[in-house]
Amino acid sequence: MYYKNNPIGVFDSGIGGLTVANAIRKALPNETLIYFGDTAHMPYGDKSAEAIKYYSLKIAKFLQLMGCKAIVIACNTASSLAYHDVKDFLGDGLPIMNVIDPVVSHIAQQGGYKSIGVIGTKATIKSGVYQSKLALALPHLTVKAMATPLLAPMVEEGFFENNISKTIINTYLSSPKLKNIEAIVLACTHYPLIQKEISQFYNGKVDILNTAHIVALNVKQQLLEKNLLSDAKTGKDQFFVSDKTTSFENSTRLFFGNKINLQQKNIWANNA
Ligand code: DGL
Repeated sequence: MYYKNNPIGVFDSGIGGLTVANAIRKALPNETLIYFGDTAHMPYGDKSAEAIKYYSLKIAKFLQLMGCKAIVIACNTASSLAYHDVKDFLGDGLPIMNVIDPVVSHIAQQGGYKSIGVIGTKATIKSGVYQSKLALALPHLTVKAMATPLLAPMVEEGFFENNISKTIINTYLSSPKLKNIEAIVLACTHYPLIQKEISQFYNGKVDILNTAHIVALNVKQQLLEKNLLSDAKTGKDQFFVSDKTTSFENSTRLFFGNKINLQQKNIWANNA
C-alpha cells in the first residue's frame, strides 16, 4: 500500500536526473522528492548491462525502503537496461517509471516527423531500445541514433557553455550519421544542461525534444491515474549521493536552492 503524500524517488548516475527532478518539481509542486545520484559509479554509459542492473536494483530498493510511493528512473541508460528488472524485482504495485516510454509516446502523438536523431550514451544506443520502440510506434520514421559518450562526463564535471564543450558538441552533431534530421531526442538526462549549445548548433532548423519536461508531465498523469497525487507538500526534498562531488553539490544548489542538504550514503554493503 503506497500513500499519496509519500515522496517520489528519482535516481540517476549523477546530476542528469536533476533535470527530471526539477521538471517534476515544477509540474507537481506538492510532491516531495528523494533523489539518489550514483556519483561513485558515474558514467553508467560505459558499464556492462549487469553492472547497470545491479546498481539500479540497489538504488530502487533503497528508495522503496525510504517510503517512496513511486520511482522514476531518471536515466536513459538505466531505463534502457534495468527498467524491467527493477519492475520485476520491486513488483508489488510500486509504480516504476522510465524516461523512454513517455518520449516515444510524445513523438508518436506528434506524428509529423520523417527523420529523427537520437543521441545518448554508448549503453543506451547499443541497447537499441529507442530504435525498436520508435520503429514499433512509427514504422515509417527513420531513426538516426548515435552514441555521444563524452557528453555526460563533460556535463557531470561542470563543463558546459565554454569553448571545450562547444567544440565537442559541434563535432558530434556534425557527424554524417545525424544528417537531414528534423528533430533530435536528448536521450540522456544530462543533455538538457547543454540544450542551449545544441540549439545554437542547429539554429532553429531542428526541433530539440525537451525530454525532462515530457517525462514530468507523464509522471503527473500516471500518479493521477493511480490516485497517488499528493495534496500538500509534507516533507523536505532529500538528496543522496554515493560519493560527494563538488559539481553535484553545485548543480543541486543551482536547481533546488542553497538550503539543500546533500547526504552521502553507502547502499552497497549487504545490509545497508
Ligand atoms: N544521465 C544518464 C542517462 O540518461 C547517464 C549518463 C551516464 O552515467 O553515462 O543516460
